[in-house]
Amino acid sequence: MDTSHLVSSLTGPAMDKSLYAARLAEFALRLKPNSIAVVVSNPERTRSNDTEFEYRQSSDLLYLTGFPEPESALIVSNVGGKVTSHLFVLPKDRKREVWTGIRHGIEGARKNFNCDKAFTSDQFATAIDSAVARAETVYYKFGASAHFDAQFDKVWKANQKPLENVEEILHEMRLFKSPRELEIMRHAARISAAAHVEAMRLCAPGSTEYQVEAVLESVFRFNGADGTAYNSIVAGGNNAVILHYTTNRDRLKDGDLLLIDAACEYRGYASDITRTFPVSGKFSEPQRILYQLVLDSQLAAIRASKPGNCLDDVHNAACRVLRQGLAKLGLISRDVVTLAGERRALKRYAADHALAKKSGKALPDEPITLRSFYMHGTSHWIGLDVHDVGTGGTRDPRGKKRELKPGMCFTVEPGLYFDKNDKRVPKQFRGIGIRIEDDIAITEKGHDVLTAGVPKAVDIIERIMDHGNVIRMNAKR
Ligand code: GLY
Ligand code: MN
Ligand code: MN
Repeated sequence: MDTSHLVSSLTGPAMDKSLYAARLAEFALRLKPNSIAVVVSNPERTRSNDTEFEYRQSSDLLYLTGFPEPESALIVSNVGGKVTSHLFVLPKDRKREVWTGIRHGIEGARKNFNCDKAFTSDQFATAIDSAVARAETVYYKFGASAHFDAQFDKVWKANQKPLENVEEILHEMRLFKSPRELEIMRHAARISAAAHVEAMRLCAPGSTEYQVEAVLESVFRFNGADGTAYNSIVAGGNNAVILHYTTNRDRLKDGDLLLIDAACEYRGYASDITRTFPVSGKFSEPQRILYQLVLDSQLAAIRASKPGNCLDDVHNAACRVLRQGLAKLGLISRDVVTLAGERRALKRYAADHALAKKSGKALPDEPITLRSFYMHGTSHWIGLDVHDVGTGGTRDPRGKKRELKPGMCFTVEPGLYFDKNDKRVPKQFRGIGIRIEDDIAITEKGHDVLTAGVPKAVDIIERIMDHGNVIRMNAKR
Protein backbone atom coordinates (compact mmCIF):
# COMPACT_ATOMS: atom_id res chain seq x y z
CA MET A 1 0.00 0.00 0.00
CA ASP A 2 1.29 3.45 -0.86
CA THR A 3 1.69 5.41 2.31
CA SER A 4 4.74 7.36 1.24
CA HIS A 5 2.93 10.66 1.82
CA LEU A 6 2.82 9.89 5.54
CA VAL A 7 5.58 10.07 8.10
CA SER A 8 6.12 7.49 10.77
CA SER A 9 5.15 7.94 14.41
CA LEU A 10 8.82 8.40 15.23
CA THR A 11 8.88 11.72 13.42
CA GLY A 12 5.21 12.75 13.54
CA PRO A 13 4.01 15.67 15.66
CA ALA A 14 3.95 15.16 19.41
CA MET A 15 3.40 17.03 22.63
CA ASP A 16 6.59 17.91 24.45
CA LYS A 17 7.60 18.44 28.05
CA SER A 18 7.42 22.24 27.93
CA LEU A 19 3.86 22.14 26.54
CA TYR A 20 2.74 19.88 29.39
CA ALA A 21 4.45 22.22 31.87
CA ALA A 22 2.53 25.18 30.44
CA ARG A 23 -0.75 23.26 30.70
CA LEU A 24 -0.08 22.27 34.28
CA ALA A 25 0.70 25.92 35.14
CA GLU A 26 -2.50 27.10 33.43
CA PHE A 27 -4.51 24.46 35.30
CA ALA A 28 -3.02 25.52 38.67
CA LEU A 29 -3.88 29.13 37.85
CA ARG A 30 -7.55 28.23 37.41
CA LEU A 31 -7.83 26.58 40.85
CA LYS A 32 -9.25 28.53 43.78
CA PRO A 33 -6.62 29.85 46.23
CA ASN A 34 -5.49 27.35 48.88
CA SER A 35 -6.82 24.32 47.04
CA ILE A 36 -5.62 20.96 45.88
CA ALA A 37 -6.69 19.04 42.77
CA VAL A 38 -6.43 15.29 42.38
CA VAL A 39 -6.48 13.55 38.99
CA VAL A 40 -6.19 9.76 38.83
CA SER A 41 -5.44 7.09 36.22
CA ASN A 42 -7.84 4.66 34.60
CA PRO A 43 -7.78 1.14 36.03
CA GLU A 44 -6.52 -1.78 33.98
CA ARG A 45 -9.39 -3.97 32.75
CA THR A 46 -9.52 -7.73 32.36
CA ARG A 47 -10.31 -8.99 28.90
CA SER A 48 -10.10 -12.70 29.53
CA ASN A 49 -8.81 -14.65 32.53
CA ASP A 50 -5.38 -13.13 33.24
CA THR A 51 -5.20 -11.05 30.05
CA GLU A 52 -5.96 -7.34 30.05
CA PHE A 53 -7.31 -4.96 27.42
CA GLU A 54 -4.58 -2.76 26.03
CA TYR A 55 -4.06 -0.07 28.65
CA ARG A 56 -5.25 3.47 27.88
CA GLN A 57 -4.46 6.26 30.33
CA SER A 58 -7.29 8.50 31.54
CA SER A 59 -7.56 11.39 29.08
CA ASP A 60 -7.46 13.93 31.93
CA LEU A 61 -4.20 12.62 33.36
CA LEU A 62 -2.78 12.25 29.86
CA TYR A 63 -3.77 15.86 29.15
CA LEU A 64 -2.00 17.26 32.20
CA THR A 65 1.08 15.07 32.31
CA GLY A 66 1.42 12.70 29.34
CA PHE A 67 2.15 9.99 31.92
CA PRO A 68 1.04 6.70 30.33
CA GLU A 69 1.14 4.10 33.13
CA PRO A 70 -1.65 2.63 35.27
CA GLU A 71 -1.99 3.06 39.06
CA SER A 72 -0.77 6.65 38.83
CA ALA A 73 -2.21 9.87 40.23
CA LEU A 74 -1.44 13.58 40.28
CA ILE A 75 -1.92 16.04 43.14
CA VAL A 76 -1.61 19.71 42.23
CA SER A 77 -1.56 22.13 45.14
CA ASN A 78 -1.57 25.93 45.31
CA VAL A 79 -1.85 26.13 49.10
CA GLY A 80 -0.19 29.28 50.46
CA GLY A 81 0.33 30.61 46.93
CA LYS A 82 2.96 27.98 46.15
CA VAL A 83 2.16 25.70 43.22
CA THR A 84 3.43 22.11 43.45
CA SER A 85 2.67 18.98 41.49
CA HIS A 86 3.26 15.52 42.89
CA LEU A 87 3.01 12.40 40.77
CA PHE A 88 2.36 8.94 42.21
CA VAL A 89 3.59 6.07 40.06
CA LEU A 90 4.33 2.35 40.16
CA PRO A 91 7.86 1.71 41.48
CA LYS A 92 10.66 0.23 39.42
CA ASP A 93 10.45 -3.53 39.89
CA ARG A 94 12.69 -5.62 37.72
CA LYS A 95 10.75 -8.82 38.32
CA ARG A 96 7.42 -7.25 37.26
CA GLU A 97 8.96 -5.24 34.43
CA VAL A 98 10.28 -8.42 32.82
CA TRP A 99 6.63 -9.42 32.34
CA THR A 100 4.73 -6.19 31.79
CA GLY A 101 7.22 -3.67 30.43
CA ILE A 102 9.64 -1.05 31.64
CA ARG A 103 8.22 1.49 34.09
CA HIS A 104 9.31 5.10 34.42
CA GLY A 105 9.50 4.76 38.20
CA ILE A 106 9.91 7.76 40.49
CA GLU A 107 13.16 8.88 38.88
CA GLY A 108 11.68 8.82 35.38
CA ALA A 109 8.50 10.52 36.54
CA ARG A 110 10.45 13.37 38.08
CA LYS A 111 12.80 13.72 35.12
CA ASN A 112 10.33 13.49 32.27
CA PHE A 113 6.88 14.52 33.50
CA ASN A 114 7.21 17.97 35.06
CA CYS A 115 6.41 16.99 38.64
CA ASP A 116 8.20 18.65 41.54
CA LYS A 117 8.26 15.39 43.43
CA ALA A 118 7.38 11.80 42.58
CA PHE A 119 6.33 9.04 44.97
CA THR A 120 5.27 5.44 44.67
CA SER A 121 1.54 4.82 44.28
CA ASP A 122 1.30 3.14 47.70
CA GLN A 123 2.16 6.52 49.27
CA PHE A 124 -0.94 8.14 47.77
CA ALA A 125 -3.24 7.43 50.74
CA THR A 126 -0.92 9.17 53.24
CA ALA A 127 -0.19 12.04 50.88
CA ILE A 128 -3.85 12.73 50.17
CA ASP A 129 -4.57 12.74 53.88
CA SER A 130 -2.13 15.56 54.62
CA ALA A 131 -2.95 17.44 51.38
CA VAL A 132 -6.68 17.54 52.18
CA ALA A 133 -5.91 18.64 55.75
CA ARG A 134 -3.97 21.67 54.44
CA ALA A 135 -6.45 22.72 51.72
CA GLU A 136 -9.52 24.96 51.91
CA THR A 137 -11.00 23.51 48.70
CA VAL A 138 -10.50 20.08 47.16
CA TYR A 139 -11.02 19.25 43.46
CA TYR A 140 -11.78 15.62 42.65
CA LYS A 141 -14.24 13.61 40.60
CA PHE A 142 -15.41 10.22 41.82
CA GLY A 143 -16.01 7.46 39.27
CA ALA A 144 -12.80 7.11 37.26
CA SER A 145 -11.14 4.51 39.49
CA ALA A 146 -12.63 2.44 42.33
CA HIS A 147 -9.09 1.96 43.68
CA PHE A 148 -8.37 5.70 44.07
CA ASP A 149 -12.00 6.56 44.96
CA ALA A 150 -11.79 4.28 48.01
CA GLN A 151 -8.59 5.93 49.22
CA PHE A 152 -9.92 9.44 48.61
CA ASP A 153 -13.28 8.63 50.19
CA LYS A 154 -11.68 7.40 53.41
CA VAL A 155 -9.80 10.67 53.84
CA TRP A 156 -12.79 12.66 52.69
CA LYS A 157 -15.14 11.17 55.25
CA ALA A 158 -12.74 11.99 58.05
CA ASN A 159 -11.84 15.51 56.95
CA GLN A 160 -14.44 17.14 54.72
CA LYS A 161 -13.66 20.35 52.81
CA PRO A 162 -15.69 22.03 50.07
CA LEU A 163 -15.52 19.62 47.14
CA GLU A 164 -15.35 20.86 43.53
CA ASN A 165 -15.54 18.84 40.34
CA VAL A 166 -12.04 18.87 38.84
CA GLU A 167 -13.53 18.10 35.41
CA GLU A 168 -15.19 21.50 35.19
CA ILE A 169 -11.79 23.18 34.88
CA LEU A 170 -10.02 20.46 32.93
CA HIS A 171 -12.75 19.89 30.38
CA GLU A 172 -13.10 23.58 29.66
CA MET A 173 -9.36 23.64 28.93
CA ARG A 174 -9.56 20.51 26.78
CA LEU A 175 -12.32 22.00 24.64
CA PHE A 176 -9.87 24.45 23.04
CA LYS A 177 -7.10 22.77 21.10
CA SER A 178 -3.65 24.37 20.97
CA PRO A 179 -1.69 24.62 17.68
CA ARG A 180 0.31 21.48 18.60
CA GLU A 181 -2.81 19.52 19.43
CA LEU A 182 -4.28 20.56 16.08
CA GLU A 183 -1.12 19.34 14.33
CA ILE A 184 -1.45 15.97 16.03
CA MET A 185 -5.16 15.73 15.23
CA ARG A 186 -4.49 16.66 11.60
CA HIS A 187 -1.92 13.86 11.46
CA ALA A 188 -4.40 11.35 12.91
CA ALA A 189 -6.95 12.53 10.35
CA ARG A 190 -4.49 12.08 7.47
CA ILE A 191 -3.73 8.51 8.47
CA SER A 192 -7.45 7.71 8.77
CA ALA A 193 -8.15 9.36 5.42
CA ALA A 194 -5.45 7.24 3.76
CA ALA A 195 -7.07 4.14 5.27
CA HIS A 196 -10.49 5.03 3.87
CA VAL A 197 -9.05 5.64 0.40
CA GLU A 198 -7.28 2.27 0.58
CA ALA A 199 -10.55 0.58 1.57
CA MET A 200 -12.33 2.20 -1.39
CA ARG A 201 -9.60 1.08 -3.77
CA LEU A 202 -9.62 -2.52 -2.59
CA CYS A 203 -13.30 -3.15 -1.89
CA ALA A 204 -15.20 -5.34 -4.35
CA PRO A 205 -18.24 -7.63 -4.38
CA GLY A 206 -17.26 -10.86 -2.64
CA SER A 207 -14.87 -9.31 -0.17
CA THR A 208 -15.94 -9.32 3.46
CA GLU A 209 -16.54 -6.67 6.08
CA TYR A 210 -13.68 -8.06 8.19
CA GLN A 211 -11.25 -7.90 5.27
CA VAL A 212 -12.07 -4.24 4.79
CA GLU A 213 -11.66 -3.76 8.55
CA ALA A 214 -8.23 -5.41 8.30
CA VAL A 215 -7.18 -3.06 5.49
CA LEU A 216 -8.27 0.01 7.47
CA GLU A 217 -6.58 -1.03 10.68
CA SER A 218 -3.39 -2.11 8.95
CA VAL A 219 -3.06 1.37 7.45
CA PHE A 220 -3.57 2.86 10.93
CA ARG A 221 -0.86 0.69 12.47
CA PHE A 222 1.47 0.88 9.46
CA ASN A 223 1.57 4.63 9.90
CA GLY A 224 2.32 4.56 13.60
CA ALA A 225 -1.16 5.18 15.00
CA ASP A 226 -1.80 4.03 18.58
CA GLY A 227 -4.66 1.90 17.20
CA THR A 228 -8.33 2.54 16.51
CA ALA A 229 -10.01 5.52 18.17
CA TYR A 230 -13.16 3.37 18.59
CA ASN A 231 -14.38 0.00 17.34
CA SER A 232 -14.46 0.03 13.53
CA ILE A 233 -17.89 -0.09 11.90
CA VAL A 234 -17.75 -1.82 8.51
CA ALA A 235 -21.36 -2.30 7.52
CA GLY A 236 -22.52 -3.64 4.16
CA GLY A 237 -26.11 -3.24 2.95
CA ASN A 238 -28.74 -3.29 5.67
CA ASN A 239 -26.10 -3.61 8.41
CA ALA A 240 -25.55 0.13 7.93
CA VAL A 241 -28.90 0.92 9.57
CA ILE A 242 -27.49 -0.38 12.88
CA LEU A 243 -25.72 2.74 14.09
CA HIS A 244 -23.06 0.96 16.16
CA TYR A 245 -22.71 -2.22 14.07
CA THR A 246 -19.27 -3.67 14.85
CA THR A 247 -19.81 -7.37 14.12
CA ASN A 248 -18.15 -6.95 10.70
CA ARG A 249 -18.58 -10.60 9.67
CA ASP A 250 -20.71 -10.45 6.49
CA ARG A 251 -19.80 -10.78 2.83
CA LEU A 252 -20.21 -7.64 0.73
CA LYS A 253 -22.74 -7.87 -2.08
CA ASP A 254 -22.84 -6.33 -5.52
CA GLY A 255 -25.53 -3.63 -5.51
CA ASP A 256 -25.17 -2.83 -1.81
CA LEU A 257 -23.65 0.24 -0.20
CA LEU A 258 -20.83 -0.09 2.33
CA LEU A 259 -20.77 2.26 5.32
CA ILE A 260 -17.38 2.56 7.04
CA ASP A 261 -17.09 4.50 10.31
CA ALA A 262 -13.48 3.93 11.36
CA ALA A 263 -10.51 6.06 12.35
CA CYS A 264 -7.31 5.97 14.30
CA GLU A 265 -5.98 7.46 17.49
CA TYR A 266 -2.55 9.06 17.20
CA ARG A 267 -0.52 10.03 20.28
CA GLY A 268 -3.73 9.91 22.28
CA TYR A 269 -5.79 12.07 19.90
CA ALA A 270 -8.78 10.67 18.02
CA SER A 271 -10.00 11.09 14.50
CA ASP A 272 -13.47 10.00 13.38
CA ILE A 273 -14.44 9.44 9.73
CA THR A 274 -17.45 7.88 8.02
CA ARG A 275 -17.77 7.29 4.32
CA THR A 276 -20.43 5.38 2.42
CA PHE A 277 -19.83 4.04 -1.09
CA PRO A 278 -21.09 1.31 -3.43
CA VAL A 279 -19.47 -2.11 -3.07
CA SER A 280 -19.36 -2.39 -6.86
CA GLY A 281 -17.96 1.11 -7.35
CA LYS A 282 -21.09 2.53 -9.02
CA PHE A 283 -24.09 4.09 -7.21
CA SER A 284 -27.55 2.92 -8.29
CA GLU A 285 -29.99 5.76 -8.96
CA PRO A 286 -31.87 5.49 -5.59
CA GLN A 287 -28.54 5.21 -3.74
CA ARG A 288 -27.14 8.24 -5.56
CA ILE A 289 -30.24 10.34 -4.80
CA LEU A 290 -30.09 9.59 -1.07
CA TYR A 291 -26.30 9.87 -0.93
CA GLN A 292 -26.37 13.30 -2.58
CA LEU A 293 -29.03 14.42 -0.11
CA VAL A 294 -26.87 13.41 2.88
CA LEU A 295 -23.83 15.02 1.27
CA ASP A 296 -25.72 18.29 0.61
CA SER A 297 -26.86 18.26 4.22
CA GLN A 298 -23.31 17.66 5.48
CA LEU A 299 -21.91 20.46 3.30
CA ALA A 300 -24.58 22.85 4.61
CA ALA A 301 -23.67 21.89 8.18
CA ILE A 302 -19.96 22.40 7.49
CA ARG A 303 -20.74 25.85 6.04
CA ALA A 304 -22.50 26.68 9.32
CA SER A 305 -19.36 25.68 11.28
CA LYS A 306 -17.91 29.09 12.03
CA PRO A 307 -17.14 31.35 14.98
CA GLY A 308 -20.24 32.82 16.56
CA ASN A 309 -22.53 29.96 15.58
CA CYS A 310 -23.11 27.05 17.98
CA LEU A 311 -23.46 23.30 17.48
CA ASP A 312 -27.26 23.68 17.34
CA ASP A 313 -26.83 25.89 14.26
CA VAL A 314 -24.69 23.17 12.66
CA HIS A 315 -27.30 20.50 13.44
CA ASN A 316 -30.18 22.67 12.24
CA ALA A 317 -28.41 23.40 8.96
CA ALA A 318 -28.03 19.64 8.34
CA CYS A 319 -31.63 18.89 9.31
CA ARG A 320 -33.10 21.66 7.17
CA VAL A 321 -31.59 20.15 4.01
CA LEU A 322 -32.57 16.61 5.00
CA ARG A 323 -36.19 17.56 5.75
CA GLN A 324 -36.60 19.40 2.46
CA GLY A 325 -35.04 16.54 0.52
CA LEU A 326 -37.17 13.89 2.25
CA ALA A 327 -40.33 15.93 1.62
CA LYS A 328 -39.44 16.27 -2.06
CA LEU A 329 -39.01 12.50 -2.28
CA GLY A 330 -42.36 12.01 -0.56
CA LEU A 331 -40.78 10.31 2.47
CA ILE A 332 -42.12 12.85 4.96
CA SER A 333 -45.18 15.06 4.65
CA ARG A 334 -45.06 18.81 4.02
CA ASP A 335 -46.39 19.63 7.50
CA VAL A 336 -43.17 18.32 9.11
CA VAL A 337 -40.76 19.94 6.65
CA THR A 338 -39.87 22.65 9.17
CA LEU A 339 -38.50 22.18 12.68
CA ALA A 340 -41.60 23.92 14.08
CA GLY A 341 -43.89 21.56 12.15
CA GLU A 342 -41.91 18.54 13.34
CA ARG A 343 -42.12 19.73 16.95
CA ARG A 344 -45.88 20.28 16.66
CA ALA A 345 -46.40 16.78 15.25
CA LEU A 346 -44.27 15.16 17.97
CA LYS A 347 -45.99 17.13 20.71
CA ARG A 348 -49.42 16.05 19.41
CA TYR A 349 -48.20 12.47 19.28
CA ALA A 350 -46.87 12.60 22.89
CA ALA A 351 -50.24 13.89 24.09
CA ASP A 352 -52.21 11.27 22.08
CA HIS A 353 -49.85 8.56 23.33
CA ALA A 354 -50.31 9.55 26.97
CA LEU A 355 -54.08 9.71 26.59
CA ALA A 356 -54.28 6.31 24.86
CA LYS A 357 -52.07 4.75 27.53
CA LYS A 358 -54.20 6.17 30.31
CA SER A 359 -57.47 5.00 28.78
CA GLY A 360 -56.11 1.60 27.71
CA LYS A 361 -56.73 2.31 23.99
CA ALA A 362 -54.43 1.21 21.14
CA LEU A 363 -51.29 3.35 21.13
CA PRO A 364 -50.93 5.69 18.13
CA ASP A 365 -48.06 5.30 15.61
CA GLU A 366 -45.25 7.82 15.92
CA PRO A 367 -45.59 10.36 13.08
CA ILE A 368 -43.10 10.00 10.25
CA THR A 369 -40.58 12.82 10.60
CA LEU A 370 -36.88 13.29 9.96
CA ARG A 371 -36.33 11.65 13.36
CA SER A 372 -37.70 8.38 11.93
CA PHE A 373 -34.70 8.12 9.58
CA TYR A 374 -32.06 10.28 11.28
CA MET A 375 -32.02 9.42 14.95
CA HIS A 376 -28.67 10.77 16.17
CA GLY A 377 -27.06 14.18 16.58
CA THR A 378 -24.93 15.84 13.90
CA SER A 379 -21.88 16.66 16.02
CA HIS A 380 -19.79 15.81 19.04
CA TRP A 381 -16.58 17.38 20.28
CA ILE A 382 -13.44 15.44 19.40
CA GLY A 383 -9.96 15.39 20.95
CA LEU A 384 -8.29 13.02 23.40
CA ASP A 385 -11.66 11.24 23.55
CA VAL A 386 -13.50 10.52 20.33
CA HIS A 387 -16.65 11.78 22.03
CA ASP A 388 -14.66 14.50 23.67
CA VAL A 389 -15.48 16.41 26.79
CA GLY A 390 -16.56 20.00 26.90
CA THR A 391 -18.62 21.18 29.83
CA GLY A 392 -22.02 22.48 28.97
CA GLY A 393 -22.51 20.87 25.54
CA THR A 394 -24.12 23.66 23.54
CA ARG A 395 -24.23 25.83 26.69
CA ASP A 396 -21.15 27.12 28.50
CA PRO A 397 -20.77 26.63 32.29
CA ARG A 398 -22.70 29.86 32.90
CA GLY A 399 -25.63 28.58 30.86
CA LYS A 400 -24.95 30.95 27.97
CA LYS A 401 -25.06 29.77 24.35
CA ARG A 402 -21.79 27.94 23.70
CA GLU A 403 -20.45 29.87 20.72
CA LEU A 404 -17.95 28.19 18.42
CA LYS A 405 -14.48 29.66 18.82
CA PRO A 406 -11.07 28.99 17.22
CA GLY A 407 -9.50 25.76 18.46
CA MET A 408 -12.78 23.91 19.03
CA CYS A 409 -12.95 20.59 17.17
CA PHE A 410 -16.04 18.53 16.41
CA THR A 411 -17.52 16.12 13.91
CA VAL A 412 -20.21 16.78 11.31
CA GLU A 413 -21.96 13.49 10.58
CA PRO A 414 -25.51 13.52 9.21
CA GLY A 415 -27.05 10.30 7.95
CA LEU A 416 -30.19 8.57 6.72
CA TYR A 417 -31.16 5.03 7.65
CA PHE A 418 -33.91 3.01 5.92
CA ASP A 419 -34.33 -0.52 7.25
CA LYS A 420 -34.99 -3.28 4.72
CA ASN A 421 -38.32 -4.05 6.44
CA ASP A 422 -39.51 -0.46 6.85
CA LYS A 423 -42.87 -0.40 5.06
CA ARG A 424 -43.13 3.38 5.45
CA VAL A 425 -40.46 3.73 2.80
CA PRO A 426 -40.68 3.01 -0.97
CA LYS A 427 -39.03 -0.32 -1.82
CA GLN A 428 -36.21 1.26 -3.82
CA PHE A 429 -34.90 3.03 -0.68
CA ARG A 430 -35.12 0.11 1.76
CA GLY A 431 -31.92 -1.47 3.10
CA ILE A 432 -29.91 1.71 2.61
CA GLY A 433 -27.92 3.36 5.41
CA ILE A 434 -25.76 6.39 4.67
CA ARG A 435 -23.60 8.54 6.93
CA ILE A 436 -20.87 11.01 5.94
CA GLU A 437 -18.61 12.24 8.72
CA ASP A 438 -15.72 14.68 8.85
CA ASP A 439 -13.71 16.32 11.64
CA ILE A 440 -13.78 20.11 11.79
CA ALA A 441 -11.55 22.61 13.57
CA ILE A 442 -12.89 26.13 14.04
CA THR A 443 -10.46 28.82 12.86
CA GLU A 444 -10.48 32.65 13.16
CA LYS A 445 -12.20 32.99 9.80
CA GLY A 446 -14.33 29.85 9.64
CA HIS A 447 -13.21 26.26 9.77
CA ASP A 448 -10.71 23.71 8.60
CA VAL A 449 -11.84 20.21 7.55
CA LEU A 450 -9.17 18.00 9.14
CA THR A 451 -10.36 14.92 7.26
CA ALA A 452 -10.52 16.49 3.79
CA GLY A 453 -8.06 13.85 2.53
CA VAL A 454 -10.81 11.34 1.87
CA PRO A 455 -13.15 12.17 -1.01
CA LYS A 456 -16.92 12.19 -0.75
CA ALA A 457 -18.22 13.52 -4.10
CA VAL A 458 -20.06 10.83 -6.10
CA ASP A 459 -17.92 11.18 -9.23
CA ILE A 460 -14.61 11.10 -7.33
CA ILE A 461 -15.61 8.04 -5.33
CA GLU A 462 -16.65 6.28 -8.54
CA ARG A 463 -13.38 7.26 -10.20
CA ILE A 464 -11.25 5.96 -7.30
CA MET A 465 -13.11 2.66 -7.34
CA ASP A 466 -12.97 2.32 -11.11
CA HIS A 467 -9.26 2.21 -11.77
CA GLY A 468 -8.81 -1.28 -13.12
CA ASN A 469 -5.15 -1.76 -12.33
CA VAL A 470 -5.59 -2.51 -8.64
CA ILE A 471 -6.02 -5.99 -7.33
CA ARG A 472 -9.34 -6.04 -5.55
CA MET A 473 -9.96 -8.28 -2.59
CA ASN A 474 -11.51 -11.59 -3.70
CA ALA A 475 -12.72 -9.96 -6.93
CA LYS A 476 -13.62 -12.44 -9.68
CA ARG A 477 -11.33 -11.67 -12.60
N1 GLY B 1 -17.53 6.72 15.53
C1 GLY B 1 -18.37 7.18 16.54
C2 GLY B 1 -19.13 8.36 16.16
O1 GLY B 1 -19.19 8.70 14.99
O2 GLY B 1 -19.66 9.06 16.97
MN1 MN C 1 -18.55 10.73 15.33
MN1 MN D 1 -17.79 8.03 13.56
